[in-house]
Amino acid sequence: YRRLRVALLGAGAVGSQVAALLRQHADELADRAGARLELVGIAVRDVDAPRETDLPRDLFTTDAESLIVGSDIVIELMGGIEPARAYILQAINSGADVVTANKALLATHGPEIFDAADQVGAEVYYEAAAAGAIPIIRPLRDSLAGDRVQRIMGIVNGTTNYILDRMDTEGAEFADVLADAQRLGYAEADPTADVEGFDAAQKAAILASLAFHTTVPLDAVHREGITAIDKSMMDAARHAGYVIKLLAVCERLTEASGSESISVRVYPALIDRAHPLASVHGANNAVFVQAEAAGNLMFYGAGAGGVQTASAVLGDVVSAARRHIAGGVGVGESTLANLPVVPVGRV
Ligand code: NDP
Ligand code: HSE
Repeated sequence: YRRLRVALLGAGAVGSQVAALLRQHADELADRAGARLELVGIAVRDVDAPRETDLPRDLFTTDAESLIVGSDIVIELMGGIEPARAYILQAINSGADVVTANKALLATHGPEIFDAADQVGAEVYYEAAAAGAIPIIRPLRDSLAGDRVQRIMGIVNGTTNYILDRMDTEGAEFADVLADAQRLGYAEADPTADVEGFDAAQKAAILASLAFHTTVPLDAVHREGITAIDKSMMDAARHAGYVIKLLAVCERLTEASGSESISVRVYPALIDRAHPLASVHGANNAVFVQAEAAGNLMFYGAGAGGVQTASAVLGDVVSAARRHIAGGVGVGESTLANLPVVPVGRV
C-alpha cells in the first residue's frame, strides 16, 4: 500500500483514543482505506502529561506547525477556536485533507474553512462534530440531499443528558454529576459550553445548515441551558409524567405568502415519559429527522465519550484516505443557498 502521513493535533479524551485505534487497527484500516495510515506525530501542549492510552513518547510534540508540513491528513482534536482555526487553514493550504470534531470552530468559522478548502480542492470531514458516534452529518449532507428536510429534533449534547438523567433517576446533585461527566470525558474543556447550551447550539447550527442547505449563524440560534434546573423542578416534572431534556429543534417554516425561513433553538423541554426521547439515557443522543419524502427517521447512540467519538473520526480518516489516493475533488460546501434564519424562541 501507499503510505499517507497522518498528523494528529490533540491527545485528550478523543485524540488519545484515535491515536490508539489508528495504531491498533493499522492493518485493517489499510485494507479499508487502500493506504497505510502512518501516524507521524501528535501535537499537544504538554508532551509529558499522562494519557488515557499507551502511546510512544517520541510521537509527541508541541510544534503543531512543523507536524502539519508534509502531512496528507490532519486530524484536529484540540478543540476551541485558536489555534485550531490557524492550524486547519495551514493544513488545507498545504494540500492536506482535514478531519475535525470541532463544532465550536465550525459553527463560527465554518464558511471561512470550507471556502479555503474549496479553493484548493481539499476536503474537511466533520462527522464527529455533531452527536458523537452517531452518523448524522453524512445522512443529512449526502443521503438526504435529494429530499426536503422539514424538521430536526433531538438531544445533541451528551453531558447535559447524562446530568439530567442522573438527576431524574437517582436524585443526584447537579455539581456531582457534572464532575462525573468531566471525569468520563464527556464534557468540553470548559463545561459551561455544555451546561449553558452553547455546545448544543453549535451542533444545531451545523445540522440546520446541512439540512436546509444554507448557513445558519450561531447567533441566530435561540439558546437556553440547564443550569436553572434543580431537584424540585425534576421532581415536579416526574410527578406530572414528564422528564426534562435539553432539546435542539431545527425547523423549516413556511409563511402564508409561501416564503420559507428557518428556526433553530435549544432549550430544556418537558418530554412525556412515553415519548422515545424520554428513554435516551446517560450520555446518549437521539436525533429525529422529518423529511418530505423519507418521512420520519431516527438516529440514536453515544453522543459523547472518547472512544465512541473516535469511531466517527476514524470513519472520516478512512474517507479522507480513499479520496486522497483517488485524487478526488471535495464537495463544495460553500455553494449553499441562503435562506433567512429566524430565531423564534420556544414553541
Ligand atoms: P480534551 O480537552 O480532552 O483534549 C484536548 C487536547 O488538545 C489535549 O491533548 C491538549 O493537549 C490539546 N491541545 C489543546 N490546546 C492545544 C494547543 N494550543 N496546542 C497544542 N495542543 C493543544 O478534548 P476532547 O478530546 O474532549 O475534545 C477534542 C475535540 O473533540 C473538541 O473539539 C470537542 O468539542 C470534540 N468532541 C469531543 C467529544 C467528547 O466526548 N469529548 C465528542 C465529540 C466531539 P494537552 O493534553 O497537552 O493539554
Ligand atoms: N461535550 C459534548 C457533549 C461532547 O457532551 O455532547 C460531544 O460533542
